Amino acid sequence: MATLTIEGGNRLAGEITASGSKNGALALMAATLLVEGEVVLTNLPHIQDVYNMVEMLQALGARAELTRSGVLITDATHICASEAPADLVKKMRASFSVWGPLLARTGASRVAIPGGCDIGARPVDFHLKGIQALGAIVRNDHGVVEARADQLVGARIYMDFPSAGATQQIMATACLARGTTLIENAACEPEIVDMAQFLNKCGARITGAGTSIIQVDGVKRLNGVEHTIIPDRVEVGTFALAAVATRGEVFIRDANPDHCLPLIQKLQEIGAIAREDAEGIFFACRRTPLATDIVTMPHPGFPTDLQQPMGAVLTCSEGTSIISEKVYEHRFRYLSELQRMGADNHSENRTAVIRGVPKLHGAQVTACDLRAGAALTIAALAADGTTEIADVEHIHRGYEYFDEKLNSLGAKVTSDESMLMSEVLACLE
Ligand code: EPZ
Repeated sequence: MATLTIEGGNRLAGEITASGSKNGALALMAATLLVEGEVVLTNLPHIQDVYNMVEMLQALGARAELTRSGVLITDATHICASEAPADLVKKMRASFSVWGPLLARTGASRVAIPGGCDIGARPVDFHLKGIQALGAIVRNDHGVVEARADQLVGARIYMDFPSAGATQQIMATACLARGTTLIENAACEPEIVDMAQFLNKCGARITGAGTSIIQVDGVKRLNGVEHTIIPDRVEVGTFALAAVATRGEVFIRDANPDHCLPLIQKLQEIGAIAREDAEGIFFACRRTPLATDIVTMPHPGFPTDLQQPMGAVLTCSEGTSIISEKVYEHRFRYLSELQRMGADNHSENRTAVIRGVPKLHGAQVTACDLRAGAALTIAALAADGTTEIADVEHIHRGYEYFDEKLNSLGAKVTSDESMLMSEVLACLE
């Protein structure tokens, strides 16, 4: 398992460019299975999850080539498989999003139900309900879901919860259904708006993406296009919080303020600076942050993926903060790792109380998931002394050039991972 060693106490300062959105890229990559023709996606982040999804597309018979400059060329005209390799689905939950598109193109689809992970059970019942509503015969067979449909038919689908993944899966699949689909109580994440824009460029007829009611008028075929992935709002938030924790100042080029409103509001509330211009967002903090309360919600609420990085900042704030995690049932494990560094917090079910302490000290800690790894990194950057974070493969699943970007801002981060991202790139092409 790989480890990051971080020498704390270095103020971050300078400029980085936001990478393409991990969650946006994965959703669009799965949606390319719907398209008969060549798709060129640009601004793909070089992260493990993207590599896993490239492997998945290839395993299903699509052409999928990722270049060093983050351009992905796919062509799913001749996809031949209707079963996703279980080992790939188990590797990454997001690969479940090939289930609907595969069904829409081939009339059959078998995909293993992705396991839960460290942040919760993460069932896929909303996905099953939506695909069934589109007329598929769905069978849940010992952990593998199978769907069959000679012709999908538009339907009115109410989401029990505005699930991002289920909204994406149903919206994409409904593009090739006959007739109109209405998705009510749909999720509104920016990645869903971007996916709708991509699909409409391919010839789909989607309206309402970004609101809670999405309408899809089915078409017979989608054609290849070019599309640029939106910037990663969670990466932007993570580096903004790292700047705040180290009392630094960082300009993040290409950051989209419209995607970061909940974070910008909260940063200003705790006494930090978040100033947007046409090219990106400037983040700084010149005082000890104030405590505040956080309630994570589906977009446009405070994003659950920034709950852990924000918790790291509130650990060294003035006062006591309360965090309510309304999206996942199990996203506080990082708090006990922060306690090893001197944090004063406790959590019960979906609520955590964080009492601000003046300073943390370095320690040996372990990342239990992607965003927990980011939170521990933020804490380590601001702590006195050296911190070793184990299991940082989690981090490299979702943050492109993570170590390199931090060091370019003045951090002192070394990775013992067998190959740094830059070396991985050398293996492409
Ligand atoms: C996406 O996951 C993101 N992942 C998550 O980011 C993100 O936290 C989440 O959306 C919320 O914004 C990707 O896009 C690859 P959900 P997704 O369906 O689609 C429950 C990260 O760190 N639920 O909106 O799986 C679910 O258990 C990751 O980048 C059901 O009960 O999230 C959760 O409690 C973590 N049944 C809640 O809904 C379902 O069928 C929200 O899940 C589906 C979801």
